Amino acid sequence: MTSMTASIANFTFNDILLNAAGVYCQTDEELDQILKADGAGSLVTKSATPIERAGNPGVRYADMPLGSINSMGLPNLGLDYYLDYTIKHQSEKPLFLSIAGLSKADNLNMLKEIQASDFNGLVELNLSCPNVPGKPQTGYDFETTAQILEEAFAFFDKPLGVKLPPYFDIAHFDMIAKILNQFPLAFVNTINSIGNAMMVDPETDTAMIAPKGGFGGIGGAIAKPTALANVRALRQRLNPEIKIIGTGGVKTGRDVYDLILCGADLVSVGTTLHQEGPQVFGRLKQELADEMSKKNYTDVTDFRGQLQTLA
Ligand code: DHB
Repeated sequence: MTSMTASIANFTFNDILLNAAGVYCQTDEELDQILKADGAGSLVTKSATPIERAGNPGVRYADMPLGSINSMGLPNLGLDYYLDYTIKHQSEKPLFLSIAGLSKADNLNMLKEIQASDFNGLVELNLSCPNVPGKPQTGYDFETTAQILEEAFAFFDKPLGVKLPPYFDIAHFDMIAKILNQFPLAFVNTINSIGNAMMVDPETDTAMIAPKGGFGGIGGAIAKPTALANVRALRQRLNPEIKIIGTGGVKTGRDVYDLILCGADLVSVGTTLHQEGPQVFGRLKQELADEMSKKNYTDVTDFRGQLQTLA
């Protein structure tokens, strides 16, 4: 038997895969499909704002040759909707509630509401939404990130993690890890989409998506090396109590394996889930088991974080 489990805070996950926030998680109907999908050990809800938002107008998601590009603009049904859903289902599996306020005050107010509620799962504070016009990604502003965490942990005592944008410089890995290590975070989720990229439709010579003049976050296969680097760099720098959810570039079981090798505890799937639907988890679980048996591993702990480098 192959063992594929993980633990974060006091929770045990019976499978290590889940959706990436934003994909298959906006409505009850979508969330129910992830909740019962073979191979999915958890789910995360669409990043919520205090009240519902329609998101950006026009074509806001497109598949592209090596992945996808999107600028959704935080369409969501509001915090209360996702709080109700997760409280209703929290006895079935450990669940993640994602929040993405457009200001520090929004984030702190949502955390206060969650703190006062019956929610007993994990909260993912999204510091990396790239798609709201005029609102830079908080995760690239180290001072503001530290300030939000300082104020949040002054009152919030449920398991809390952060969703980070990809970093591209060794100095930035050092800087963000130094900040995160100052707080009792349960986990980090890395990476969000690679923000503000551009893709051209060769038929029409237009940008592939409408919002923000065509600028959008890219994910899928093209993001895999950046995801591996961020998981690896953060695993090397973060306190061992801070677990890692690896996100980015998963198409096959081997991609899941590689994220675990770099240090991921759980692995989430965005673009490929969007393209294939919730059956993707069963496929990926089987492919991961096949990859592990090729290497004579029976437990993900046999190789988690064990990436070797060349001399
Ligand atoms: C959206 C995109 C993201 O990458 C994110 O983290 C949150 C929201 C969006 O456009 O809806």
